[in-house]
Amino acid sequence: MRAAVIVPAAGSGRRLGGVRKAYLELAGEPLLVWALRPFLAHPAIEWAVVALPAEDAAEPPSWLVLLDPRVRVVAGGAERTDSVRAALAAVPPECDVVLVHDAARPLVTGDVVERVLAAVSAGTSAIAAVPVEDTVKEVEPDGGIARTLERGRLWRAQTPQAFPRALLAEAHRSALADGVVATDDAALVERLGARVIAVQGSPENFKVTGPLDLPLAEAILRRRDG
Ligand code: CTP
Ligand code: MG
Repeated sequence: MRAAVIVPAAGSGRRLGGVRKAYLELAGEPLLVWALRPFLAHPAIEWAVVALPAEDAAEPPSWLVLLDPRVRVVAGGAERTDSVRAALAAVPPECDVVLVHDAARPLVTGDVVERVLAAVSAGTSAIAAVPVEDTVKEVEPDGGIARTLERGRLWRAQTPQAFPRALLAEAHRSALADGVVATDDAALVERLGARVIAVQGSPENFKVTGPLDLPLAEAILRRRDG
């Protein structure tokens, strides 16, 4: 199995006040480096494609260029879906499987990478996910509750998400043709009717999104060290 990892890192970090989250430092290293390491450490990963904001892709930061010879950089797009599509176009055809992982999830570990790779090596698309802990309501725009969802069946989707390369490419072609944008790649594969399974992610593999998330990530790292 020949595998690539795609890392969308071209967002504008609006919910953090408009910062490039991928470049933010966590314990002295950019989130993007943290997010890439467990993939680069895996022997199956032969290519790593990072989508950066277009202006940075022309002249990527040297710490990224020097990180690993497998890393290549492309210009991302307006939506995450556009950034992943651009990165996918830079994955060579001899690659069998593609993993997609958010730059904003720096605390991913090798065991989660291993679980999605194990599933996709058996031919099934797989995403890391964790069971929902809160009760989830579907709420109307006026605040009225439409329904209470059955919590036992609800999972929060994370990355990494792993797919046969040709299937992910078809999903992105179809999404582009139909003007569909999604917040993850599994949704695009699901809409083709292909099976995607959830494998065990980790609560620590959360997405750095708001202002409390960096201090939380730092606390988790300190605990890992100790
Ligand atoms: N991303 C991307 N291209 C975009 C938008 C998002 O590559 N046009 C990436 C982000 O860089 C991030 C991942 O997709 O690694 C998940 O997105 P999110 O957490 O929403 O990051 P941002 O879009 O940067 O943040 P916000 O939504 O708060 O602006
Ligand atoms: Mg976003």
